[in-house]
Amino acid sequence: MPSSTQTSPSAPAAPAPPWPGTRADGMAGLEIGGTRHELPVIVGTEGERAIDIAKLRSQTGLITLDEGYVNTGSTTSAITFLDGEQGILRYRGYPIEVLAEKCDFVEVAYLLIYGQLPTTEELHAFRSSLSHHTMIHEDMRSFYGAFPRDAHPMAIAGSVVGALSTFYQDSLDVRDPRQVEVSVHRLLAKLPTIAAYSHKKSCGQPLMYPRNDLSYCENFLHMLFAVPCEEYRVDPDFTEALDTLLIVHADHEQNCSTSTVRMVGSSDANLFASISAGISALWGPLHGGANQACVEMLERIVADGGDVKKYVDLAKKKDSGFRLMGFGHRVYKNYDPRAKLIKSICDKLLAKIARHDPLFDIAQQLEEVALADDYFIERKLYPNVDFYSGVIYRAMGIPVQMFTVLFAMGRLPGWIAHWIEMHQSPTKKICRPRQVYSGENLREFVPINQRG
Ligand code: CMC
Repeated sequence: MPSSTQTSPSAPAAPAPPWPGTRADGMAGLEIGGTRHELPVIVGTEGERAIDIAKLRSQTGLITLDEGYVNTGSTTSAITFLDGEQGILRYRGYPIEVLAEKCDFVEVAYLLIYGQLPTTEELHAFRSSLSHHTMIHEDMRSFYGAFPRDAHPMAIAGSVVGALSTFYQDSLDVRDPRQVEVSVHRLLAKLPTIAAYSHKKSCGQPLMYPRNDLSYCENFLHMLFAVPCEEYRVDPDFTEALDTLLIVHADHEQNCSTSTVRMVGSSDANLFASISAGISALWGPLHGGANQACVEMLERIVADGGDVKKYVDLAKKKDSGFRLMGFGHRVYKNYDPRAKLIKSICDKLLAKIARHDPLFDIAQQLEEVALADDYFIERKLYPNVDFYSGVIYRAMGIPVQMFTVLFAMGRLPGWIAHWIEMHQSPTKKICRPRQVYSGENLREFVPINQRG
């Protein structure tokens, strides 16, 4: 591997990197079979350094192998900065704690997608455009009748978002900025409707039309909980909690679902198709599905008598197949800053509704025991964003199967911002990793009647 990141006397000068916001930082030397190769080192605006291996294969004949992309930067990006050691998360340079306090979700979505905080006029125009796209095509509403009653809402959300490309064919050209913008507004406006309808389907209630006089989060809660036969008043504390939850989920740089959106989009697949793929990636319990899995785990511990130590011990046994859901993170080796914010909303909301939730007690005990345990300390495993979010959703009366759909609603602006950034990049390429083949060598075909 690289023997240094300094330019050696005979090495060529580091070329200027092609990525805006990065600069050259010398060369890294790589010795293979006695031959030394020089690879450019680049540095980003927050000092992160990377070896640019774009010419590695043409220079050396070798590729890199990095399962799970643990050490691999797939792109440069100017959207989100994350420092997992220090627990820092910023969108477009602004700490999420500041954004969660001062903005609502729509303003943060604008920031992520357009790169700057909006002026009053820009925000007004954005809100008004979103509120004019909230309905889904009437024929799409009939889709809901065809899904089984017990369909998981993530399956419905992924399918219906993919199907948007059949109903809105006038905005599919990835090279037309106006069409892309229309798709972006449609998606942001319609995903809450799509999400709320998947819940209504599961409980057999009529689908409620959106209300454009309500804010983004109020409208979603209204579509989720209201029924046509009586008035429903949205609780402002629930709206505030939901706004904060969506903000803290809004982007997280190159996570599994965002990388999926970029990968699918890199083939020039349209935005709806790319986001549908992102929803599928998010569904897994190691990613966004962890919020549902975490609440189910807490319920299991409560039902089993509340012995948190037993479950912490179980999570330490590799052959148990059990992990503490809502714990650990590929990038955070410190307390997840999103989990801190979520825990504080959780305290506030539970105090306000004066509800005692045994799951919250168990979650707190579990956190305390795990954080004092050598296994978790050595591996730097802390509660992540999914650890307390489910407790809040429960307090708001949101069914557990909807938790990951709420994650998707929050992550949508981040997915969109990355999809646009990828398309605007001067160095855009189709994503197509290589592999090291480890199968059979050339074999002679055996006719079926001669196979033993
Ligand atoms: N419980 C018990 N042990 C764990 C856990 C956990 N939740 N997470 C990681 N470990 C152990 C793991 O067994 C390994 O131990 P060893 O070094 O002895 O083999 C070590 O910690 C490193 O884990 P890893 O699986 O190599 O780490 P990773 O970066 O590949 O995985 C993770 C990250 C989030 C998938 C993992 O921590 C996990 O499965 N957590 C539970 C699921 C979860 O909460 N996911 C939500 C992530 S945050 C929301 C999002 O952005 O997706």
